[in-house]
Amino acid sequence: MPRMRLDKLLAHLNCGSRKEVQAMIRAGRVQVDGVTERDPAAKVDADAAQVVLDGQAQHYQAQRYYMLNKPAGVITASRDERHDTVLELFPEEMRRGLFAVGRLDKDTEGLLLITDDGALSHALMSPARHVDKVYEAEVEGELVPDAAARFAAGLELKDGTVCRPAQLEAAPDLGENWVRVTLREGKYHQVKRMIAAVGGVVVRLRRVELGGLTLDPALAPGAFRALTAQELTLLTQQGK
Ligand code: URA
Repeated sequence: MPRMRLDKLLAHLNCGSRKEVQAMIRAGRVQVDGVTERDPAAKVDADAAQVVLDGQAQHYQAQRYYMLNKPAGVITASRDERHDTVLELFPEEMRRGLFAVGRLDKDTEGLLLITDDGALSHALMSPARHVDKVYEAEVEGELVPDAAARFAAGLELKDGTVCRPAQLEAAPDLGENWVRVTLREGKYHQVKRMIAAVGGVVVRLRRVELGGLTLDPALAPGAFRALTAQELTLLTQQGK
């Protein structure tokens, strides 16, 4: 059973920085097994203790799962000599062990799952699992009239690569030149190359869904939050 300091546990649960949660504990906002605990250093059993903050039960997860709204201009890597990385959007003390599930291009924005759960990452990225990924793209140029049918049939890219059937639809709710693309695989620059094969150029791209997980519209570019228990269940079901 992992016994750990109460302030460390609450910070780990994303309730605030270590300093912030210490203040919450001292203010009497935290109960452990029904009793108010004002000592940030109190040791609790992270698996078994019922920890409540401001009336909300907090649950310890041995592994960490975050939804990040990736901004354009950072690369999907843990560390890089020349570029800012998605992991650098997390405070340094949180980074250890975390990595991104899959990859978005430097100029692509949107939903990126950041975790330390290698098994889930592997399951979600496995080509055999067919996990849906939904992208919104702003496109320049005139697409061929049968573009959606060619996506649905399994499009052949300019280099001869054949894609799995995918969905392409106009997205007038986003703007005049926007489309929505749903893929079940993740080849290199896939959306850009598929759109190029039907006559367009992607000028802006963001991912909004991954395996049933939807990008939280309240997350500004560069912001992240822990997945809810419900979101995690959704994802793990996809990974099976
Ligand atoms: N397809 C692309 O072309 N780029 C991405 O970043 C993701 C999917």
